Amino acid sequence: MSDKKVTIPELQNKKSEGKKITMITAYDYVSGKIVDETGIDIVLVGDSLGMVVLGYKNTLRVTVDNIVYHTGAVRRAVKRALLIADMPFLSFTIGVKEALLNAGRMMQEGGAEAVKIEGGEEVCDVVEAMVKAKIPVMGHIGLTPQSIMQLGGYKVQGRENKEVEKLIKNAKALEKAGCFAIVIEVVPEEVGKKITESVNIPTIGIGAGRYCDGQVLVFHDVVGLYMGKTPKLAKKYVNGAEIFSDAVKKYIKEVEEGTFPSEENIYEQ
Ligand code: KIV
Repeated sequence: MSDKKVTIPELQNKKSEGKKITMITAYDYVSGKIVDETGIDIVLVGDSLGMVVLGYKNTLRVTVDNIVYHTGAVRRAVKRALLIADMPFLSFTIGVKEALLNAGRMMQEGGAEAVKIEGGEEVCDVVEAMVKAKIPVMGHIGLTPQSIMQLGGYKVQGRENKEVEKLIKNAKALEKAGCFAIVIEVVPEEVGKKITESVNIPTIGIGAGRYCDGQVLVFHDVVGLYMGKTPKLAKKYVNGAEIFSDAVKKYIKEVEEGTFPSEENIYEQ
């Protein structure tokens, strides 16, 4: 693994060279440090923190303050990867000025190097204003969890031809507006491929099949720390919750039977 800082032009080079881009979420100093030291390309402080860190049912209650606070913690750990902060529900749709001020907080207070926003053509005015203000923007189309009330659930998007056309139109519009990459969430593999082939900027898939330019997953899903229902798109590489629980059980047992603290854990006079 090279120690070289990941930059936005380098992600573009990866797409051109056919090299896969890797991305994962992190929400605090510890998860930030763990993922950065693996050599991952992008770390996202996602609004998924509402579910995996704060225990909400969905992402809608996540605030700008929440993201700024958690981005600050991750910032102190991440040295190499590109750090992106997720713009939460309503933080970029009330007006362009509010969107700019909120994105500015992500970068100036949180230390993010870019922001991510959900939506297609309808957010392109905001993307353009951000890019003009020197704020790099990652788009996010397909299943956009902030639209969950309108979508009526976490459903696969782009099953109908009309929807596919709209997704491609949205991806092209985001590219034209200045996005440097686009997350594509929960669409059939063929649709992920078509979108990827229709834009020159990198696409990062989550439940969007094997042909995207990169992949993103939620940290807690990868390490098995999310105790709720995990979607089909996620892969649990280790059962972190079980490992941690076993460790705490051993600690309780040792305290109760008097084997902890042992000689190596005590201080001499
Ligand atoms: O909030 C999040 O974690 C995300 C990723 C899953 C793309 O938006």
